[in-house]
Amino acid sequence: MKSIYLDYAAATPMAPEAVAAMQPYFSEKFYNPSATYLAARSVRTELNDIRARLAAQIGARPSEIVLTAGATEANNLAVQGVMRQYPDSEILVSAVEHESVLAPAGLFKYQEIPVDGQGQIILNKLSNLVNDKTVLISVMLVNNELGAIQPLREISQLIAKIRQERISRGQDLPLYLHTDAAQAGNYLDLHASRLGVDMMSINGGKLYGPKQSGFLFVKSGMTLRPLIHGGGQESGLRAGTENIAAAAGLTAALELSAALRHEESARTTLLRELFESEIKKRVPSAQINGGRQRAPHIISLTIPNTDNERLMMELDEAGVQCAVGSACSASRDEPSHVLAAIGLNDKTARSTLRFSLGRQTTDTDIHKTVKEMTRLVKH
Ligand SMILES: Cc1ncc(COP(=O)(O)O)c(C=O)c1O
Repeated sequence: MKSIYLDYAAATPMAPEAVAAMQPYFSEKFYNPSATYLAARSVRTELNDIRARLAAQIGARPSEIVLTAGATEANNLAVQGVMRQYPDSEILVSAVEHESVLAPAGLFKYQEIPVDGQGQIILNKLSNLVNDKTVLISVMLVNNELGAIQPLREISQLIAKIRQERISRGQDLPLYLHTDAAQAGNYLDLHASRLGVDMMSINGGKLYGPKQSGFLFVKSGMTLRPLIHGGGQESGLRAGTENIAAAAGLTAALELSAALRHEESARTTLLRELFESEIKKRVPSAQINGGRQRAPHIISLTIPNTDNERLMMELDEAGVQCAVGSACSASRDEPSHVLAAIGLNDKTARSTLRFSLGRQTTDTDIHKTVKEMTRLVKH
């Protein structure tokens, strides 16, 4: 029996289109794009085209795309790339950021922006925290444990006002907005200027593309300090021979996600609603975390007085794969900082599982999952 996979927020199977797009770069087009003979120059041209296609997906210029090995690297480049230039300044991050934003932020002076019970940052708390030393604000687009969508446009409007006010006082420290959009691409618009962001991290591994593929959008006019020094690739921001296969797979995957976005959002929302209503019917004590403003694919479910590790393993044995919190925090025996930030106590957090849906999820999968959950919780 094939297991039902409900951990798409951790990893997605690759789309055949993405696999096919990568294939030539492992064999006949293996050349280093920086070499000067004709065959290599044609690979360089293809890399330029890939970059332009990626940029088009987010309404950016090709020169604003820095290819990285996934979102962790993109987040580190965004945070450290700015903060190393302004060592006396401060960064604000939401309390529910992924570790790949929190950990680099922790290398500098930083404060956390609190969230409400639904995982949404509290805008007036954000404006109170901004001071004349704040140079960077990082708020994710979609939270990986709750699915909560952050109000990026409102945040960017608020930042625009603060910038104006700084200028009027002759204060010249810049103020940048970064978003980690790693969980957003299959369901939400990623247009950088509509979101109003200066930097945005994307990864292919959540988009049915290859793992360790991704990019950081960096708005023209911004300067960053590189993390990786060497041969000067990626406009000096990320040295090393370009992984054109990964970039090609990422591009095909992102284009496909954009084409399917509307349809998949509607379909996944229905599946999520089915899951939530069925589980509440059968296990009335079940609680859904994260409020109404949520991406369609993530369900954070608390079943009071259960042990999430145990239930996850029993579900695995019963043929359902889900997660305890996020894959990253699951490896540590600490309750999730995201669930703590929305006010769940330790015991409740340890009774919480994450189910994340994707392209291959069907309503039969949902019914089977709810049936197994009910059996395990009630026995
Ligand atoms: C919100 C968020 N940011 C960043 C990452 C890290 O991405 P990557 O594994 O591509 O480095 C993840 C992956 O779990 C994520 O969910």
